[in-house]
Amino acid sequence: MPVKFRSGENIPLEMHKTRVIQRLNLLPLEERLAASQEAGNNTFLLKNRDVFLDMLTDSGTNAMSQAQYAAMLNADDAYAGSETFYRLEAALKEVFGTAFFLPAHQGRACENIISQIFVKPGQSVLMNYHFTTTRAHIMRNGGTVVELIRKEGLEVTSDLPFKGNMDTDCLRQEIEKLGAKNIAFIRVEAGTNLIGGQPVSMANMREVVKIAKNAGILTVFDASLLSDNLYFIKVREKEFEHKPISDICLELGSLFDLTYFSARKLGCARGGGIITNREDLYNEMIGLVPLFEGFLTYGGMSVREMEALAIGLRENLDFHCIEQTPIFVEALVNELLGAKIPVVTPAGGLGCHVNAMAFCDHLPLEQYRAGALASALYITSGVRGMERGTLSEVRNEDGSEHFAEMELVRLAMPKRVFSLSHIKYVADRLTWLYENRHLIGGLRFTFEPKVLRFFFGKLEPVSDWPQKLAKKFRADFGDSL
Ligand code: F0G
Repeated sequence: MPVKFRSGENIPLEMHKTRVIQRLNLLPLEERLAASQEAGNNTFLLKNRDVFLDMLTDSGTNAMSQAQYAAMLNADDAYAGSETFYRLEAALKEVFGTAFFLPAHQGRACENIISQIFVKPGQSVLMNYHFTTTRAHIMRNGGTVVELIRKEGLEVTSDLPFKGNMDTDCLRQEIEKLGAKNIAFIRVEAGTNLIGGQPVSMANMREVVKIAKNAGILTVFDASLLSDNLYFIKVREKEFEHKPISDICLELGSLFDLTYFSARKLGCARGGGIITNREDLYNEMIGLVPLFEGFLTYGGMSVREMEALAIGLRENLDFHCIEQTPIFVEALVNELLGAKIPVVTPAGGLGCHVNAMAFCDHLPLEQYRAGALASALYITSGVRGMERGTLSEVRNEDGSEHFAEMELVRLAMPKRVFSLSHIKYVADRLTWLYENRHLIGGLRFTFEPKVLRFFFGKLEPVSDWPQKLAKKFRADFGDSL
């Protein structure tokens, strides 16, 4: 909860206390340098034991509540008909008002099922913006992704409160152009991940669904990042200022034909699921759950995680629970803006997104600005971020680089995991790095996998810049870690 201090500063006060802790390691600079080299300068390949603050993702790394841990002990182990399933189904019905639930092992498994059933070769899927796994599943089934994000969504700095909104004029035109039968479905992603965790307004979602219904097109909602999006609807959309969060969730559950989510994010557990009120759609998908996931009453999830999820979903209705990530992201964004560091604005959910395109504008694009910044940040701080730029793209057919629209380093904010001094540490080291950014050099591949190269690829610095950066760090910080 933001509270005003005597200085006038707004501080994001934590409305929880820490009762279970995990020890952290901050390796000395020289060891971080060696660990980075060993990991091929790819933060995905770092060992967690070498990482101080893991800001790679919030997926499966959110802190759980004592009520969630307590519920895990109460799980009912059964291959079929587990009580745990019925408890989770009831929680989903209570929160979203949906009658049918298909469990799956995580979000991308839901995407696999939905794409296999509803995408026919040659069809398009219209959406505000893609997520990597979503696009891959749609393409695997012969579909094409059409992104209809408002143009401001791709501008790094903006003061638009809902940068994740779909451009509804473009949506109408695209339906007209393609014809409804060539559109598999229209997908809205809450808290639009790849453009910086930017929210979608309820007004926009209502309009998108109305257009889709008029044209007779199926609507699909990706609710993986709904928790932060709920917060933004509440604080940025006047109509909801005095309405309970439960009203927003119930409306969303009835708005879309299908909703799916990664429970590694939504509900602070692990797993995933598809929910709907349409029995016909449920019956179409049902066969793929036992085939790819597990029996219908667990779908690849552990019953303990399912119990934790049932509680986590209800906890999302508590404003203090959902505000924690966005206000911490905002605190970090404000610290960085104060130091004139280029970041995505307005502050969204999910994490703080540093604009490496500008931060490292002295580097050629083919030397991976965001990849180089992520690597330099780990060396100087032990903080692990995620490259979201050209490295995460796929090469053109002729082998040339496909340059990404944005070069971002995502510093994800797992829910209720970090303290304010952690945030201040990240801001301090990034500020130092910004002042010394001319020392950051480029990277080149030494091992480049054909598929998902950003996960496993290894790179080397184009010069001895990491050593020079480390030398300057020692000169400025002395013996400090
Ligand atoms: N949809 C969105 C919007 C996501 O952010 C993710 C995962 C998925 C679907 C897939 O879910 O991982 O459970 O299979 N995002 C993670 C991230 C990986 O780091 O942002 P999953």
